[in-house]
Amino acid sequence: MPLAGIDSRRYDAQMTKPRIVDEAVLGTAYPDHIETMKSRHDRALERAGAGHVVIFSGAPHPVFLDDYHYPFKANPHFVSWLPLTNTPNCYIVYTPGDRPVLVYLQEKDYWHVPPSSPEGYWTAEFDIRIVHQFDDIAKHLPTDHEKCILIGEINDESQAFDIERVNPGTALNMLHFERAVKTDYEVECMRAASRRGVLGHRAAEKAFRAGRSEFDIHLNYCKSVGHAENELPYGNIIALNENGAVLHYQHQSKEKPAKARSFLIDAGASVNGYACDITRTYSKEDDEFASFVELFDGLQQELVGEVRAGYDFAELHLLCHLKIAKLLDETGIAKGSSDALIETGVTSAFYPHGLGHFLGIQVHDMGGHMGDDTGTIIDPPSGHPFLRLTRLLETNQVLTIEPGLYVIDMLIEDLRGTPGHDFINHERLDWLRPYGGVRIEDNVRVLDDGCENLTRDAFGG
Ligand code: GLY
Ligand code: MN
Ligand code: MN
Repeated sequence: MPLAGIDSRRYDAQMTKPRIVDEAVLGTAYPDHIETMKSRHDRALERAGAGHVVIFSGAPHPVFLDDYHYPFKANPHFVSWLPLTNTPNCYIVYTPGDRPVLVYLQEKDYWHVPPSSPEGYWTAEFDIRIVHQFDDIAKHLPTDHEKCILIGEINDESQAFDIERVNPGTALNMLHFERAVKTDYEVECMRAASRRGVLGHRAAEKAFRAGRSEFDIHLNYCKSVGHAENELPYGNIIALNENGAVLHYQHQSKEKPAKARSFLIDAGASVNGYACDITRTYSKEDDEFASFVELFDGLQQELVGEVRAGYDFAELHLLCHLKIAKLLDETGIAKGSSDALIETGVTSAFYPHGLGHFLGIQVHDMGGHMGDDTGTIIDPPSGHPFLRLTRLLETNQVLTIEPGLYVIDMLIEDLRGTPGHDFINHERLDWLRPYGGVRIEDNVRVLDDGCENLTRDAFGG
């Protein structure tokens, strides 16, 4: 549900287009988010036997033998406190009972534009100390280093400012486990990210129907969501025809295909560092593949319909195999009982990835295999190594539901000489192969007795 009394689909002042990010909504939710962050860090510090946590935003990575840097990716622990995704070399200091401190580096630099001065709803929650050179940061850090823990990627010891306990597992396990449950503020950021992503998905579908190349479709997507390539939460998967069978297809061909038959797009967007992760599959014509996508969409929605607090996600993944087995049989792609198709590895050959994963600041958010906050791991079921989420679902977790079905010849070939191979109807494979495959991916928030579908809400149904 949206926050009480707030319609998250409100329109902008001109009433021309849906508002993507409503600062007033985020500002209303943010103080409670900070309270949750404080109490999570209070417990993590207690567990670690420490008195202060210092969180480093990170530093850009230089390119080998060059003086350029790879695009900066902020430490997700830093971003979980505040909406700053592009401020390297900043530090948050939190001491239980105190207002969190942000040590904000606004370096004097005539080669680059320094970060602008902090502004926005979040600043009221922080004691902000602006410094102009890196070494001045030390003045704002706790002096009792033995009571500090530091969270962040340290590549140069100067970044640790003599703090020796870096990324202790005691604290991190707790924070990673708890982070799976999102605050109202985080969910609102993700609703906004979904609305942004849908703008891109609509533009991409239009470009596909106009016969454009993968590269052109990608550019249309980026323009519509308002992200430069480096601002996307992950590399867009823009796959025409057979390319849809490559799970993380990483190219964008600049050539228009002679005939565009199908389009699989897995593309996200970000708001304040929170991602959406959406996949849609389209058929160019109103043909048998279009009906197949529609059937598959129904299967995906049935799985979404199962999501609720208390469900073991590994069980939901196995239920997906059962549904895919039935679909393979009903559509004649592989004939056999569901049990036989699952046991002989046929469903895994057509659907080799997991049903979903946690989503948040990271597209594959931390903690999906954690059984508790001490670091106990729940392995995926045997034969399902790529399942990224094995936890019991809890209210306010946000995750993806993304079943897929593809013609991956190397996996079909692996079945040769095994009983599974005989179940497959190779004529039907020849029919499906030129379309690549189908994946439908929605982002859902778990509720006590169901879920909120952020993606379908953003699409308007
Ligand atoms: N976009 C990557 C994934 O769906 O997991
Ligand atoms: Mn995903
Ligand atoms: Mn995806």
